Amino acid sequence: MTQDELKQRVGQAAADYVYANVPEGAVIGVGTGSTANCFIDALAAHKGRYRGAVSSSLATTARLQSHGIKVFDLNEIDGLPVYVDGADEIDAHGAMIKGGGGALTREKIVASVADRFVCIADASKRVGVLGAFPLPIEVVPMARTAVGRRVAALGGVPVLRVQKDGSPYITDNGNEILDVKGLHINDPRTLEAHVNAWPGVVTVGLFAVRGADLCLLGGEAGVERIEYTKG
Ligand code: 5RP
Repeated sequence: MTQDELKQRVGQAAADYVYANVPEGAVIGVGTGSTANCFIDALAAHKGRYRGAVSSSLATTARLQSHGIKVFDLNEIDGLPVYVDGADEIDAHGAMIKGGGGALTREKIVASVADRFVCIADASKRVGVLGAFPLPIEVVPMARTAVGRRVAALGGVPVLRVQKDGSPYITDNGNEILDVKGLHINDPRTLEAHVNAWPGVVTVGLFAVRGADLCLLGGEAGVERIEYTKG
């Protein structure tokens, strides 16, 4: 089975999960990326059941709207029963690296108001220790070099994310992203709090303080359901 087929499998499993566990008329939090797109496509089959969605990026908004799913501004919503999103890496405690698609800030905001975070991923995303995937940090552009120096002092190698034409990649929020290579993240909660406190950092792509509650992990044998206990 290809990675794309595994992504479709977990996208469908997440839509089934939402159908079975979320009341009719609810608004659903929706993540960003190729796996989240599979979820959106599967969710669309039952779109009449939900009031709509809160989106974590302009790309996700466009995909939801292409299916006729109403997109609400987060400010209009009191809460979300569930947030469904992919990950670049997930560890045994439900801590994740996210932001490969550049949407980490809005993803973290939407996830923070949801009762439950359901991570959907193919089995290649499961790791023992986070950090092989470069850790994205969204920065205010004027702080790029200052934040890069702090990253280097931790032993990481900051690389400015660029587009195909070599110009800086710009997030939906008008900021830049440093992708940090070379970290071996043994304590993701502490690192998340530490990096978030640096001036100029908008968001670090560690989702450990608010990690996943459930992971639907797609493998050859089917979809494994992994629940994480918080503490
Ligand atoms: C986007 C993200 C994505 O969830 C992450 O990059 C995984 O993407 P994909 O499902 O395409 O592998 O964090 O900012």
